[in-house]
Amino acid sequence: MTEHQLDTLLSEQRRFPPPEGFARRAKATTALLQDAARGHQEFWAEEARALDWMRPWDRVLEWTPPHAQWFVGGKLNASVNCLDRHLAGPLRNKAALIWEGEPGDRRVLTYWDLAREVRRAANALKQLGVRKGDRVAIYLPMVPEAVIAMLACARIGAVHSVIFGGFSAESVRDRVNDAQAKIIITADGGYRRGQVLPLKRLADEAMAHTPSVEHCIVVRRRPGGEGDESFAGMTEGRDHWWHRLLDAASAVCEPEEMDAEDLLFILYTSGTTGKPKGIVHTTGGYLTQVATTTKYVFDLGPEDVFWCTADIGWVTGHSYVVYGPLANGATVLIYEGAPDWPERDRFWSLVERYGVTVLYTAPTAIRAFMKWGTAHPARHDLSTLRLLGSVGEPINPEAWIWYHRHIGGERCPIVDTWWQTETGGIMITPLPGITTTKPGSATHVFPGIVAELVDNTGRVLQAGGGFLTLAQPWPGMLRTIYGDDQRYQDTYWSRFPGRYFAGDGAKLDEEGYWWILGRVDDVLNVAGHRIGTMEVESALVEHPAVAEAAVVGRAHDLKGQAMAAFVTLKDGYDASPSLKDDLKAHVSHKIGAIARPDDIFFSADLPKTRSGKIMRRLLKDIAEGRALGDTTTLADPGVVNRLKDLYEAQEA
Ligand code: WT7
Repeated sequence: MTEHQLDTLLSEQRRFPPPEGFARRAKATTALLQDAARGHQEFWAEEARALDWMRPWDRVLEWTPPHAQWFVGGKLNASVNCLDRHLAGPLRNKAALIWEGEPGDRRVLTYWDLAREVRRAANALKQLGVRKGDRVAIYLPMVPEAVIAMLACARIGAVHSVIFGGFSAESVRDRVNDAQAKIIITADGGYRRGQVLPLKRLADEAMAHTPSVEHCIVVRRRPGGEGDESFAGMTEGRDHWWHRLLDAASAVCEPEEMDAEDLLFILYTSGTTGKPKGIVHTTGGYLTQVATTTKYVFDLGPEDVFWCTADIGWVTGHSYVVYGPLANGATVLIYEGAPDWPERDRFWSLVERYGVTVLYTAPTAIRAFMKWGTAHPARHDLSTLRLLGSVGEPINPEAWIWYHRHIGGERCPIVDTWWQTETGGIMITPLPGITTTKPGSATHVFPGIVAELVDNTGRVLQAGGGFLTLAQPWPGMLRTIYGDDQRYQDTYWSRFPGRYFAGDGAKLDEEGYWWILGRVDDVLNVAGHRIGTMEVESALVEHPAVAEAAVVGRAHDLKGQAMAAFVTLKDGYDASPSLKDDLKAHVSHKIGAIARPDDIFFSADLPKTRSGKIMRRLLKDIAEGRALGDTTTLADPGVVNRLKDLYEAQEA
């Protein structure tokens, strides 16, 4: 965030009390806050009782810092909570999923349909040898089979590891190997802006180096895709068509009885080293937190059509496309493609067609809509919307107000929700119907959550700026990093002993409102996607021309942050525009298009401290066109001035 953005954020004076009609009917009431005030364990236990348990828990929490166990001794199954328990009543024949593909194809699955498909998929997995505790990688576009596959894993106690469909073959390979997955579920393709992304072909590239994988299941997404070798290239004995397996599978499948602390999934996310972290989530606590936050933050019930626009490859898709809304018996809309395909009104035509009542999206998307102009939403009837949500990065007040006015028709409360892959569910958020919102502020902690602002010595601050920490364990918290508990302890619990450090800077105002300022570590947030600078740097230095690379974020109007890479070349290589393009393509190929640098700058040197550490802060100053900060600790202060001149020349 630039200083200018920070200033506008903090001078924000507008207040939006909850609309009266909304407040009267809202699921979250002030009684809820009072319950939570009586004790956080009792609060979560009360909420957990709303789930179906096969065996009740003995103890709510066992806390041996930094390891927590929630609902100790309790047994349940996540798929039963999302599906079976709705089948006995009026939800049986109600839409669970409404899906629209980018080309305009459509499917609706009722709760009954979804439950049947999940049981058949679960049997298909079993037939391929998947047992409780085995890992299954899911590398799919946004199609109903993605949801079915996740719940099928949950049904038999397999651990899913969903890999975003935009990741490269190498990213898939690394994640599959880290988790030692037995199965990859993919598709022949997925649609994005009219193009077909050849997922199976990428999976094949990955599978050349993933010895743990025994079978690959392929969803036929492309019409007539079967038999088209160039897209699916089925390997006899290893690869199987999804529809054939399911056609042959029984629809009877008893759910596995899972311990509350059995793994539900692993989800990889970027950190400050080159290697992504496998964030581990377990069953009972996670499900309790996502079901509870969905109910109160999105005020969600069976009559709603909920559209969370996130891909299931991210945690938002896990918690608020799949587990939270389905546990609440809501109707979930999923859309496969891009918001500007074929026209820039695609989102609004979806809202109108399906009568979406609650929309949850990211500030980067809202800023793009602002740029595209109000004519697109104005052309559609958005009057079914009653609540709007935002997630992924700080929302600037201008975008908040635009969202409120042009999408929410000034009648919908906005919930700006702060949380992370690691937290599992929403942590800081308004409660619609209770909270008076301020544009740009995520407002207050969710009931049962204890967040504290600390200074750099760990002292708790009542107001002002500092670091966002969590002072008590919460049910949806990550349990560890898969295969690397030491990294879990070091990353989250060592900076401020006894506290979880989120990696975010924040401010608490005089009225106790939280303002999240963004990451304070070497993690970027580009268009709501979390990217480690080290990952991109490692990809760059693998290119034969690159000697050294440093990646920094710079403020960007639409994406929040853009990525600038400073690169020094090996002898014998010349800086040229075509080499820039080559390096960008190289990073896309290594990691995925989301990690493609926006700018590349060639330089003979990089500014370093005397101990050899690259001073990213100075590079950020240069990339954002600011006067240079303190350069006294540099080994060679001349480097940075030369670099600044060069940067400005290359930019011109
Ligand atoms: C990081 C977590 C949680 C789902 C999406 C991202 C930033 C997230 C907000 C918000 C300001 C936010 C933080 C956080 N972030 N939501 N409402 N206001 N910043 O999950 O990839 O794990 O990234 O996203 O910096 O640490 P993630």
